[in-house]
Amino acid sequence: MTESAGTEPLGVGIIGLGTVGSGVARVLLEHPERMQRRAGRPVVLRKAVVRDLSRSRGIELPAGMLTDQVDEVLNDPETGLVVELIGGLSPAREFVERALKAGKDVVTANKALIYEHGDALCALAREQGKTIAFEAAVAAGVPIIGSVGQALAANQITGIEAVLNGTSNFILTEMSHNGLPYDAAVQLAQERGYAEADPSMDVDGTDAAHKLVILTQLAFGTRVPLDAFIRQGIDTLELADLQYARELGYRVKLLAVARIRNGLLEMHVEPTLIRRGHPMSTIEDVYNRIQIDGDVVGRVWFSGMGAGQAATASAVVADLIDTASGRTRLNFPLLDLWHQREPVPVLPADELSRRYYLRYNVIDRPHMMADVTDILGRQGISIASVMQHEAPEIDCTSDSDEEPIVPLVIMTHRTTEGQMRSADREIAQLQAVRMPRVRMPVDG
Ligand SMILES: NC(=O)c1ccc[n+]([C@@H]2O[C@H](COP(=O)([O-])OP(=O)(O)OC[C@H]3O[C@@H](n4cnc5c(N)ncnc54)[C@H](OP(=O)(O)O)[C@@H]3O)[C@@H](O)[C@H]2O)c1
Repeated sequence: MTESAGTEPLGVGIIGLGTVGSGVARVLLEHPERMQRRAGRPVVLRKAVVRDLSRSRGIELPAGMLTDQVDEVLNDPETGLVVELIGGLSPAREFVERALKAGKDVVTANKALIYEHGDALCALAREQGKTIAFEAAVAAGVPIIGSVGQALAANQITGIEAVLNGTSNFILTEMSHNGLPYDAAVQLAQERGYAEADPSMDVDGTDAAHKLVILTQLAFGTRVPLDAFIRQGIDTLELADLQYARELGYRVKLLAVARIRNGLLEMHVEPTLIRRGHPMSTIEDVYNRIQIDGDVVGRVWFSGMGAGQAATASAVVADLIDTASGRTRLNFPLLDLWHQREPVPVLPADELSRRYYLRYNVIDRPHMMADVTDILGRQGISIASVMQHEAPEIDCTSDSDEEPIVPLVIMTHRTTEGQMRSADREIAQLQAVRMPRVRMPVDG
């Protein structure tokens, strides 16, 4: 809602009535008075668009509200606001463009769309005198977009550290606390409705990276493409590493980091060891947590449900109320700054400086540990601790000449990613080192 703000009812059309769409429709239909009080005018759900009219939605809709014809929303002159909740890039992009061109404001929860086409869509909205609100696109129910855009506006933000993918965090929690292997934890996440049938964007780090890029644009005015920073998911982690990390006094989290250091932007999304007791180490299940450092406010934390029907609907409906009452305008000019600031250069990955957790599966032979530590030493990497559990008993009666494999777990002092990569290449050449070779940074 922009120029037409007033007491006229706001007609709303939802495109996509899946998990989030059904939650949004439920709030609008169950709380019309609350909507009117908060928006300053009636908010009327007119149509909800789906692909399959026969599917059960778990919600009772007034007769005639459900349609499979998107034009009934996009061509409806009484619809002033379109809520895009189908996900993906196409046809979501086309629907949002058509809505804006037809003079409608847009609310979306679609991080992939905002990551890929946010700039162009915001420019189009500006041209049309309309707005796009996307609070739910990052951390669902946690009000982080509004906080960065409005509540923290006095600050130059200097750092963001966050657990931004609820599905990955749930899987890590199940592996770490209940000892579930990775595949079983993924299956449980699917059964609970947290992970999609194809959870690859969650577990390979892409979803968290999309959200980090959006936050980075808002906080630092710099748009960083996905291929410009390290993006590693939890899909290669093994239960053993979570257990060794625990033994060493750490938890493993899929940590997204963007911070300014010496005028350069340090950015990465990786499974990271976090000291037990640190606030970021205690975030469990589908919860998200975001730590923001600002030059005026200091450090602030945000936590809450980072996925799920009700939490995501909460953020979408808040955007809808802001748009209906004209408040989205307050947040919206910030987006234009994306194009006006000098981009902050990204620190090359090889220059990242941190401590590392390493695990090498080695054949239990004399000198193996010395061979590995010698390579690390020659690369200038100093070792903080080494842990090696006893090899399993060998069955002397067996004919097999298989040698036992033992995990060699090493914690390093601070070094660079470049040194670590060089060392890893050399260690990979050792005849007695087996796959997988695991390397995770340690936070702090
Ligand atoms: N789920 C969460 O916890 C969560 C959290 C934050 C953000 N989001 C974002 O919210 C958006 C929606 O997610 P979701 O989990 O609600 O997805 P979903 O359960 O898969 O629902 C998608 C809905 O869109 C409809 N749809 C898909 N393509 C369509 C088309 N071409 N025309 C008309 N309708 C179409 C589907 O119709 P049918 O039902 O007929 O197939 C379905 O109702 C995504 O962008 C997602 O990233 C979700």
